[in-house]
Amino acid sequence: MELRPVSVADLAFLAEITLLAAFPPGPLPAGASDMPHVTRWTVDWGRPGDAGVVAWSGGQRLGSAWCRLQADVLARDEAGHPLPEIAIAVLPEYRGHAIGAKMLNALDRAAANAGQRALSLTVNTRNPALHLYERTGFEVLRRDGDRLIMVRLLAAPSP
Ligand SMILES: CC(C)(COP(=O)(O)OP(=O)(O)OC[C@H]1O[C@@H](n2cnc3c(N)ncnc32)[C@H](O)[C@@H]1OP(=O)(O)O)[C@@H](O)C(=O)NCCC(=O)NCCS
Repeated sequence: MELRPVSVADLAFLAEITLLAAFPPGPLPAGASDMPHVTRWTVDWGRPGDAGVVAWSGGQRLGSAWCRLQADVLARDEAGHPLPEIAIAVLPEYRGHAIGAKMLNALDRAAANAGQRALSLTVNTRNPALHLYERTGFEVLRRDGDRLIMVRLLAAPSP
């Protein structure tokens, strides 16, 4: 398995797996792909703050982790600057082999090198992805109903 930066050639794949992250397992609602909380993850890709990695093996994309500054800001740093929010998904048949953890680590480095100081995310308390986030150093900033808002400080960028 290799990791490489997200490029515009990956956007259709990102749009597809956004659905895995944005909805619980099972049938999707009508028009899911066009819903704003789905399209906000890929539209106008390449804005300042956009960063991401794609997991790749044997010519096939397996998953991706990426981050963006969103208009609907989830969390801010101490100076009030918005933190990028992350999305992550691995195709179901490749889960449980540490691809998610490796992508998160690589995304941290990419975001730190792009000048970010921290990353944020939101996760449903029933989503097992919560284990992955806790294991990779995300901490709960606040709770909003059945959603947790989590933040992870990034190490200084590599020289
Ligand atoms: C969350 C996700 C990206 C993890 O990818 P992964 O490659 O399986 O991650 P890893 O192998 O590095 O870690 C597995 C962890 O993910 C969690 N997980 C969630 N769904 C899982 C699944 N179907 N199979 C295995 N692990 C799963 C496990 O709890 C596990 O944590 P643990 O080992 O501490 O118990 C992947 O399960 C996924 O795509 N889920 C659907 C999309 C989603 O929910 N995204 C997050 C929205 S907030």
